[in-house]
Amino acid sequence: MRKIYIFDTTLRDGEQSPGVNLNTREKLEIAYQLEKLGVDRIEAGFPAASPGDLAAVNAVARAVKQSTIIGLSRSREQDIDAVREALKGAEDPCIHLFLATSPIHRKFKLKMEKEQVMETAQAAIRYARKYFSKIEFSCEDAGRTEIDFLCEMTAMAIAEGVSVVNIPDTVGYLYPYEYGNIFKTLKEKVPGIEKIQLSAHCHDDLGMATANSLAAILGGADQIEGTVNGIGERAGNTAIEEVALALETRSDFFNAKTSLALTEISRTSRLVSRLTGMVVPGNKAIVGANAFAHESGIHQDGMLKEKTTYEIMSPETIGLKESKLVLGKHSGRHAFREKLIDLGFSLDDERLNQAFAKFKALADKKKDVSDEDIIAIVDERLIDA
Ligand code: KIV
Ligand code: ZN
Repeated sequence: MRKIYIFDTTLRDGEQSPGVNLNTREKLEIAYQLEKLGVDRIEAGFPAASPGDLAAVNAVARAVKQSTIIGLSRSREQDIDAVREALKGAEDPCIHLFLATSPIHRKFKLKMEKEQVMETAQAAIRYARKYFSKIEFSCEDAGRTEIDFLCEMTAMAIAEGVSVVNIPDTVGYLYPYEYGNIFKTLKEKVPGIEKIQLSAHCHDDLGMATANSLAAILGGADQIEGTVNGIGERAGNTAIEEVALALETRSDFFNAKTSLALTEISRTSRLVSRLTGMVVPGNKAIVGANAFAHESGIHQDGMLKEKTTYEIMSPETIGLKESKLVLGKHSGRHAFREKLIDLGFSLDDERLNQAFAKFKALADKKKDVSDEDIIAIVDERLIDA
């Protein structure tokens, strides 16, 4: 089975979520948990952005030993020097250089022709090579870059000795078929492509970051970049837990796996949510509060008979104790009876029917019926009796 490397950028692209600002202690706390989760690579920050970020990346670099620690850098010497400083003391340092390659970015942002983009990137890689044995190079806005130019940039980066070439869909513009095809084309057309790893980095502007990342894997990507809970610029980045669980649940289809300790996923999600202040929506795949909750009577009945009727993954896989059967107006008698047993009641059929009728009347008025509500209903019944 093919190994897919996980490059976590919660501490860099994730921190670029509007309103999020992590101090050194918080970055360290998340980095330790990411190490426990088993991510292969941690992008700890953008050292040239601020002295505080440089210090935070350095603290992570000195503390975390099991994952490669990465610092982001524009293709310029001052940024590279900042990453050198920040990664002092790292067991396995890596610099992540980037330069935009798309026509829109070349024209409006960089004001450079293709040749200048190529030369600038080449010079940056050459400078970085003096200090780093591991370099990742990203063609920013690769998703909107001419495929021939992307092949040329990749060939240049390989010739200059980088270890990873990243193909970001920076603005979340592509759909899976298109994105997967870029990887296929690079694999087919660029000489020496087998010497490096190809990486996918997706944004979720059109809600396709996970689908695009999976398409990249099918196209031959070796590494997926993303964040915990999918936080990040604008609509966010690929959620690494979604990719890991998709590969785990559909290993029959992908024949590929990450090395993540999946049982750490739930804990990592809660930690990142608490420290960033970014609330995880209830219906978020894998880590949302409702991801393993069932409300309808038909589903609850199926779950009580055999969990795989309505669950393609088990909550235990991500470190949760059990699925939740939420009692509401769609719930049926079977789930209600099980809840009563859990709460320590055993009612005969007649009393159960009466209590169930009261429960339904309450559920019509109230979205979720809590354990306390049920106890109150049953107690009332016993008093009535
Ligand atoms: O989205 C993007 O293009 C990035 C690069 C810096 C890799 O985050
Ligand atoms: Zn990004």
